[in-house]
Amino acid sequence: MTGETHLVSTIRELRALVAPYRARGSVVAFVPTMGALHEGHLALVRRAQQIADVVVVSIFVNPLQFSSSEDLDRYPHTLDTDVASLAESGVAVVFVPPVSEIYPDGAAITRISAGPVADRYEGVARPGHFSGVLTVVAKLFNIVSPDIAVFGQKDAQQVFLVREMVHDLNLRVRVEALPTVREPDGLALSSRNRLLLPGQRSAALTLSTALRAADAAARRGAASAVAAGVAVFAAQSEAQLDYFDLVDPVTFARITDDARGDAGSDALALVAARVGSVRLIDNARIALG
Ligand code: PAF
Repeated sequence: MTGETHLVSTIRELRALVAPYRARGSVVAFVPTMGALHEGHLALVRRAQQIADVVVVSIFVNPLQFSSSEDLDRYPHTLDTDVASLAESGVAVVFVPPVSEIYPDGAAITRISAGPVADRYEGVARPGHFSGVLTVVAKLFNIVSPDIAVFGQKDAQQVFLVREMVHDLNLRVRVEALPTVREPDGLALSSRNRLLLPGQRSAALTLSTALRAADAAARRGAASAVAAGVAVFAAQSEAQLDYFDLVDPVTFARITDDARGDAGSDALALVAARVGSVRLIDNARIALG
């Protein structure tokens, strides 16, 4: 398996490809995705290639992490271009299972319970979302058996919960999170950006603008930082703010001026908003004064 990209759809094929690497003690890195790949995903792939002998990328739009009110079918599908760009990047194994391969008995009955942090922020808007994410990530970890899994920090709450699951369930995988890749004007790359209508891109920029405003106000404390972020949305009618808040990057506990986090002056500013029918999220580290 040198230089060639293997596209496989069954667990059996995947395990047969990875087994020789495991047998000779090579480092296996894994990048789980739902496809609609962009430069942010390719940055994860490049990092995985730097730190491992073989890289497995999965493309699987996981029905379990979409609630019924969300339109699973609207999630962008660009399989041919995804596979072409992974092949061009030199990825050794691309795993594209059908839903029946991952959930042969219908939706999984045994699911990972994601704990209290999963009920906040994204979990409020998307009940059950993180249980669905962790269930599929645990399954994929068991299928691929990677030494290292690489995730994007744009989904900060997801990264936190995956790390918590790995710790709590003693999974033998190291989780690496890479910084969010942005357009030159600050827009965080997201597969969902493809769903924005042409006139909605400037409204989508409100999220990163609000994070910068919070950063600029952060030396006056947590309340000022949050107020500055929220104020950016007040001036923009096309982006409907869902939440803007500060959490401790280590514990995900909410940070206020009365309750500063364990991470000293470091806070993670989280934002979610709806632009038309597209829900977008973003986050940034800020230093509180
Ligand atoms: O971040 C994603 O794309 C998904 O939540 C993941 C981790 C691939 C699980 O379906």
